[in-house]
Amino acid sequence: MSVILPTSLDLVRWPLRQNETLRAWDAADEYLLQQVSDTEGLATALVINDAFGALSLCIQCHSVTLWSDSKLAELALAHNQKANPQCYSVDFQSLTELPFQQLKQPIDLLVVKLPRSLSLLEWQLVQIAHLIGPQTKIMAAGMVKHMTLAQNQIFEKYLGKVQPSLAKKKARVLHVTPDLELLAKTTNPEKPVGPQDKRWQAEPYSIQLNNRPGVFSRSKLDPGAQVILPHIPKEVTGKIIDLGCGNGVLGIQAAKLNPQAEIHFVDESSLAVASAEDGFKLNNLEGSLANPVTFQQNNCLDGFDADSADLILCNPPFHQGHTVGDQIAWRMLSQAAKVLSPNGELLVVGNRHLGYHVTLKRLFHEVRQVAADPKFVVLAARKPRKRESKAKTKE
Ligand SMILES: C[S@@+](CC[C@H](N)C(=O)[O-])C[C@H]1O[C@@H](n2cnc3c(N)ncnc32)[C@H](O)[C@@H]1O
Repeated sequence: MSVILPTSLDLVRWPLRQNETLRAWDAADEYLLQQVSDTEGLATALVINDAFGALSLCIQCHSVTLWSDSKLAELALAHNQKANPQCYSVDFQSLTELPFQQLKQPIDLLVVKLPRSLSLLEWQLVQIAHLIGPQTKIMAAGMVKHMTLAQNQIFEKYLGKVQPSLAKKKARVLHVTPDLELLAKTTNPEKPVGPQDKRWQAEPYSIQLNNRPGVFSRSKLDPGAQVILPHIPKEVTGKIIDLGCGNGVLGIQAAKLNPQAEIHFVDESSLAVASAEDGFKLNNLEGSLANPVTFQQNNCLDGFDADSADLILCNPPFHQGHTVGDQIAWRMLSQAAKVLSPNGELLVVGNRHLGYHVTLKRLFHEVRQVAADPKFVVLAARKPRKRESKAKTKE
């Protein structure tokens, strides 16, 4: 048997939440595992985009690598691995590193959990195509409502022919047969194929940006960012954090306006952090600031000192993977209340219907609306409340 059932393990989602109602895997993971269980003699498996490590831990072979863009996936895997010592150990590799660099043989199994972004899928397949041989079993899966024909076309463009399974519990598995001629073209170092980073300029601010594949707001300003940008304060001399920085547009503008400040770019996506660093260099900001700048892949503000920041800029996410919800936004805002110094300010933009003013009033004494358009509001919050049980209940 080459798999364990996730129901027989102790698996959690990340970040941990009290009274979590969602499982750490979905029906697409279950379907994939069922298909993998028919595969004998596995020695090396590469799993891409497994959200919480559940899929990777259930595959029983000596060398399993989870290749992912997400800090949350890394933290979840570390936790789940510790809680389930009976599983083979899984190696985590960030997308900014390449997995199986030392391997001389092709891998036995490639399992892809389909990501939201087509450019990310395309880039990922091109990066790992050299690990595929004629015997490699390739399977990809997702929930039917999130799957598109464009995903099949990407597999057929770079790896080989796609055979979709029947749908089961609203999930589907794509089986891909390696096509060696196609793979030779995909991996030809003389003629690199696949998506490139997207370079563009945010007007009217003349901010140069570089979006690596899958990074939020790939080729134009997000409407929320558009509403908050004109309100980034000037003359801040202390610590500024661009929380959930994406391509770094807010932090780059803050750096241009506040050359005396100490700027920190934070995102849970490794490609986002790399994009923010690209953008920072493109705008010739390197060496132009009085203080060092950091680019950090991190879960929200975990590990940041209390009372240490003077300005936090935030355009929070409203989903985690395919799951829509405010749990990450809540964590960002409540941690901001701890990390802000007594005179510091949080500037946050959100869709009106998300009701961030209600959340902020639970966390701060002063909340004011700075700007609004029919869809978005920009709110400034100051004077964090002392940690009260009311504010803690949601974590
Ligand atoms: C709505 S986008 C905003 C991006 C950018 N600041 C902008 O305004 O265009 C939210 C960002 O939060 C990041 N994010 C999601 N969960 C996170 C977490 N737990 N910790 C840090 N960043 C996170 C996402 O990767 C994404 O880049």
